[in-house]
Amino acid sequence: MITARELAALRARLAEAEETLRAIHTGNVDAVVIAGKKGPRVFTLQGAEHAYRMLIESMNEGALTLTTDETILYANQRFAGMVKGSLEQVIGGSFRRYLSAADRAELRPLMKRTGKSGSKTQVLLIASDGSKSPAQISIRPMAKNGFSQKTIGMVVTDMTEARRSEELLRALSQRLVQSQEAERGRVALELHDNITQLLCAIVVRSQALAEKISARDGPSKKEAISLREMLGKTAEEVERISRDLRPSVLDQLGLVAALRETTTAFADRMGVSLELGLVRLTARLPADTELTLFRILQEALRNVQEHSNARHVIVRLKKQGAFIQLTIQDDGVGFKASRRRAPRGTNGGLGLLSMRERAAYVGGTLEVKSVRRVGTGIDVRIPLVQPA
Ligand SMILES: Nc1ncnc2c1ncn2[C@@H]1O[C@H](COP(=O)(O)OP(=O)(O)OP(=O)(O)O)[C@@H](O)[C@H]1O
Ligand SMILES: [Mg+2]
Repeated sequence: MITARELAALRARLAEAEETLRAIHTGNVDAVVIAGKKGPRVFTLQGAEHAYRMLIESMNEGALTLTTDETILYANQRFAGMVKGSLEQVIGGSFRRYLSAADRAELRPLMKRTGKSGSKTQVLLIASDGSKSPAQISIRPMAKNGFSQKTIGMVVTDMTEARRSEELLRALSQRLVQSQEAERGRVALELHDNITQLLCAIVVRSQALAEKISARDGPSKKEAISLREMLGKTAEEVERISRDLRPSVLDQLGLVAALRETTTAFADRMGVSLELGLVRLTARLPADTELTLFRILQEALRNVQEHSNARHVIVRLKKQGAFIQLTIQDDGVGFKASRRRAPRGTNGGLGLLSMRERAAYVGGTLEVKSVRRVGTGIDVRIPLVQPA
């Protein structure tokens, strides 16, 4: 005989079961049962609030709750959309199935050892139809009170758009560099062919004039001689500017000669001591590589001049396996090098950024090592053979 009270309890349980079934059906799951080695384990989201869920569902990012061994306890619709599956397929399954072997290996230790502040990593998300998209994963341990066991909260951000804009920006900056080089070349040629020639002619004529003035007209002769000297210096300066814009020695004699000429001229001008170690190259490097290394040297020396207060500069060009390596080291004041942020008190110059971009354009890498009061080193490595 069932009492009225027991009947009411049974009705309530039935209603609960129906509610659970409906929740599972629509994907709004509050509890997940995972088959484990020691029998089924139940993960319940006690008191999951409606408002909280609404927020998670309206996010433009994938949001997940996982066990530390990467079983998905909860996912929002956005994540299911990202991996082109339904919530029923996603929830209860492993997160690993959406990652390559390499990304799995990267994620595993992060899941096991999530610090309080959490961690981030970049992966390629593999959707159920096999398509791949770049994504950023950030994980954080969750407060245990929601679930019956330790869980991890994960936010998955689709990086497809961000990557596309990055590529666009990179292509744009490369176009800018190329047109800047073309323009520099044109101005250099103009300066060299027209202005320097003209100035040289004037120097010769002012020399002739100075010789013509008789020694008896002392002040005039002195003035003519000093005028000729000033003109000579002007011609040299214009020639230097033209060379900096587009060094003909780089085109004619190659990288090593151009590096030697530029560094020795720099050391003379700045009064710093210079140590040069330049490998002998038997063949010319690709024109892009030569120009890149030359421009990086110029930019680095400009920084030495403007910021370092150095007394000694070392410039080395080496062959390292399949790479050509250029290092520029100074013993100046140094700075706190950060990939992202500009050093304190600067408004974020373009020098280091453009060096990096130029190196990347020819498939190379650039490293900046700087220690306060010890000095700064720039280290560029470019593959000798350019990928087609
Ligand atoms: N050799 C160096 N010694 C000391 N500080 C340096 C050196 N090179 C760079 N820095 C520091 O790093 C900052 C960034 O250098 P970067 O070349 O990017 O910009 P900038 O020289 O300030 O401006 P720009 O190169 O655009 O004229 C500099 O402002 C300076 O504080
Ligand atoms: Mg600079």
